[in-house]
Amino acid sequence: MHVNPNFEKLPGNYLFAEVARRVKAYSAAHPEADILKLGIGDVTQPLAPCVVAALKKAADEMLSSATFHGYSPDYGYDFLIDAIREKDYAPRGVRLAADEVFISDGAKTDTSAIQELFAADARIAVTDPVYPVYVDSNAMAGRLGDFLDGRWTRLTYLPCNAENGFVPSPPTEPADVIYLCYPNNPTGTTLTAAQLKPFVEYARKHGAVIVYDAAYKAFISSDVPHSIYEVEGAREVAIECCSFSKTAGFTGVRCAYTVIPHEVTGLGASGQQVELNALWKRRMGSKFNGVSYPVQRAAEAVFTPEGQKQCGETVAYYKKNAALIRSELAAAGYAVFGGVDAPYVWLKTPVDSWRFFDRLLDEAHVVGTPGAGFGPSGEGYFRLTAFNTYEKTAEALRRIRGL
Ligand code: MLT
Repeated sequence: MHVNPNFEKLPGNYLFAEVARRVKAYSAAHPEADILKLGIGDVTQPLAPCVVAALKKAADEMLSSATFHGYSPDYGYDFLIDAIREKDYAPRGVRLAADEVFISDGAKTDTSAIQELFAADARIAVTDPVYPVYVDSNAMAGRLGDFLDGRWTRLTYLPCNAENGFVPSPPTEPADVIYLCYPNNPTGTTLTAAQLKPFVEYARKHGAVIVYDAAYKAFISSDVPHSIYEVEGAREVAIECCSFSKTAGFTGVRCAYTVIPHEVTGLGASGQQVELNALWKRRMGSKFNGVSYPVQRAAEAVFTPEGQKQCGETVAYYKKNAALIRSELAAAGYAVFGGVDAPYVWLKTPVDSWRFFDRLLDEAHVVGTPGAGFGPSGEGYFRLTAFNTYEKTAEALRRIRGL
């Protein structure tokens, strides 16, 4: 048996595993160090009370054979799908059919698996820097060529940097699939509808598909789209992945949803149009076990007026952290980006990003994420998350300012 050779082409560890490895090694060598983590985007605030109440109520239902639930439907329970359609999308003028929404256990799960629907030789484009999952999953499937000098030879990088205001241009070379994430991970920046429009137009013109990761949309307070479907024509070319992880603190609970409108198609073997929605259903049926009933009830509670209020307060708490990170870093002389409509602040580093990571860890005992880990255009930048507590965030910033 030969192993999948594509795994051997992957550079080192998964980014956040590498960060964790370095932090663990540092901790072992310096057990006295009080390390503050502003690295991986994991939440720290508890679940909303109404979410926990729904979780408990659903758990109690599992005690009686009359209300017990076994396998969930492959694509999710109607009560959650309808809440998403009516409370999340309809108010923005986006009408979705019930079978266009798929419940899953994570946006990472879906954004990494969606590439199974594309041909083995599909050409991929990503904004750069980028959430590494889109790249790694396509690399594992053998689509990206080789990793040479920090770049995949068969991947189109769409640079986002201070020079272009973090506004990428659509590909100038052929692309079949374009991954976009807004509000952006890692830069924390957003795109307006007018800035997203050229991507939708590119996809419509070239028969490409956009995979739009909207995991951070709850953090938007500016006038930018919460959904790619707010851009005209996107229904025909875009898949959208959303998550309860950052919206409602579900990183440990696990629930997410992906939207695939019926209009989104690709070419079949004999040139006919094939609905990606049908392919995803087929895939979910064969490969996915569903999300548990109590968790889907908990997710449903997020859309109640109480849930919106309680989850909104937690998001506001993180946004306050982000504002603090921005202002403190700016006061310390760093160029800062993002962090207004997102839980991530992106800063320019005085040295290369892994060196900055090591220096911050060693001299301030603060963990962040080096920009280079997100792609070639991330070099020279660094990401801090707003997901720690306000007190620890303030302390981390105090230490960074003291460097
Ligand atoms: C991050 O830090 O980029 C996120 O935690 C990634 C994720 O949600 O998987």
